[in-house]
Amino acid sequence: MFLLPLLLVAVLPVSTEGGKILWGTEAKPHSQPYMAFINYYDSKSQKFRCGGFLVREDIVMTAAHCNGRNITVTLGVHNIKKQKNIQHISVVDSISHKDFNHKTLVNDIMLLKLKNKAQLNNDVQKIDLPKKHDWVKPGQVCTVAGWGTLANGSLSNTLQEVNLEVQKSQTCLKMSKDYNDSIQICVGNPKEKKATGKGDSGGPFVCHNVAQGIVSRNFNTIKPPRAFTRISSFLPWIQEKMKLLQQP
Ligand SMILES: *[C@@H]1O[C@H](CO)[C@@H](O)[C@H](O)[C@H]1NC(C)=O
Ligand SMILES: *[C@@H]1O[C@H](CO)[C@@H](O)[C@H](O)[C@H]1NC(C)=O
Ligand SMILES: *[C@@H]1O[C@H](CO)[C@@H](O)[C@H](O)[C@H]1NC(C)=O
Repeated sequence: MFLLPLLLVAVLPVSTEGGKILWGTEAKPHSQPYMAFINYYDSKSQKFRCGGFLVREDIVMTAAHCNGRNITVTLGVHNIKKQKNIQHISVVDSISHKDFNHKTLVNDIMLLKLKNKAQLNNDVQKIDLPKKHDWVKPGQVCTVAGWGTLANGSLSNTLQEVNLEVQKSQTCLKMSKDYNDSIQICVGNPKEKKATGKGDSGGPFVCHNVAQGIVSRNFNTIKPPRAFTRISSFLPWIQEKMKLLQQP
């Protein structure tokens, strides 16, 4: 039943969120037109999925732990089994943060350069990144979406979404001393039965139409909280690397 999670655990020592929304609801089709469905293969040619989001016509942002071989991005998709009007684009270059740590999952951020520019339309749009001093605070409720596993362990064909509450840093520090609130966001009330799961990794944590976080780490339990990458702490890195990925 938990095939994908087990495979991920075999590859990565720390539990990463390969892509699943637990106890969420199906999103209204195309209500989150920045969402990207990502497929990649590991060194054993095992297939994995992640989420991502369009930040420039030719760049998708995701988690660094979603790096692998033959990465492809699908835009404009709600049900991944229905191939109508989608944009399926291969990835020609990727830049992960040089300080990404496979064990602690800090600096879990990656940019994917698309082979062609995405064609923007009603179903395919970019999402804004935060401003320098945007600081997501405990108590704030934002939305995350993904095609990861459902509460019953099946991978979802349709985009699922769930609202999650930002927690105090102590809530995540209790789970792991590696949690760092200056570069991560602690998300998901332990008292609520709502969470991301395997396969939701790389998806955006969206507050007021701004991508503030990237789904990154669980703490080896299905129960929340989770640690997400705090995007506002990476703006200089993002600007530098996006310039580097400029069309020649
Ligand atoms: C990856 O892409 C290469 C070249 O396009 C192809 O030969 C190979 O079979 C692909 N690997 C997987 C696992 O799909
Ligand atoms: C899991 O739930 C989904 C959605 O309700 C359903 O489509 C799927 O068949 C279920 N899978 C299993 C193994 O029960
Ligand atoms: C948290 O991350 C920042 C930025 O990378 C770093 O300067 C700081 O030392 C880290 N704090 C801890 C406790 O590791």
